[in-house]
Amino acid sequence: MEIRVLLPSDDRSSFRSGNVELDRFFQRFAGQNQFRVQLGVTHIALEAGRIVGFVTVSAAQVKWADLPAAVRKGLPGYPVPVLRLSRMAVSEAAQGGGIGAALLRHVNLMAVELAANKLGCLGVVVDAKAEATGFYARYGFIELEAEEGALADHPDATPMFLSVRRIRSALGSH
Ligand SMILES: CC(C)(COP(=O)(O)OP(=O)(O)OC[C@H]1O[C@@H](n2cnc3c(N)ncnc32)[C@H](O)[C@@H]1OP(=O)(O)O)[C@@H](O)C(=O)NCCC(=O)NCCS
Repeated sequence: MEIRVLLPSDDRSSFRSGNVELDRFFQRFAGQNQFRVQLGVTHIALEAGRIVGFVTVSAAQVKWADLPAAVRKGLPGYPVPVLRLSRMAVSEAAQGGGIGAALLRHVNLMAVELAANKLGCLGVVVDAKAEATGFYARYGFIELEAEEGALADHPDATPMFLSVRRIRSALGSH
């Protein structure tokens, strides 16, 4: 399996994850968000030349008060920079085969790289759909206190967070 950044020439039309909203986003909006308005970059997983999964990321920030107390400790009280995993899906036929875990690892490594060499980044945030909170939890994501109104566009989502520090220690580095 290969993971790389989406190109304008990639055919997204036949991707089906079983989640209509995510499929529509991937087919209609992932390209323009990346190539025209720079709102987010989509990374795709390919197997035998076919797209079997995608994850879209962008820069974001989290209010200091919304962070877990243990993470807040030692930080100044202003919003902190994070990497947002805004959308992720694996094609129906490929679900359960480790693609989602590989895409998540790819994002986590990106956050570590950003934090080390590119820009400030405290961790990864995701607005997890109810059916996917267990997936993120098994990789160490913890629920954040939802800021009032912040989830207006995603009323069914739970904001979750994984710190770069935890990613590094899971990788066995520091
Ligand atoms: C959720 C999703 C991205 C997971 O990708 P996947 O490729 O199917 O997952 P993987 O095969 O990599 O699973 C890795 C581990 O997570 C577990 N897992 C997978 N989906 C899970 C879920 N929804 N809840 C809890 N655990 C889950 C697997 O059992 C596996 O555990 P194991 O390592 O003990 O075997 C994928 O199923 C999907 O696209 N679902 C529909 C769209 C969606 O819900 N997207 C997330 C939006 S926030």
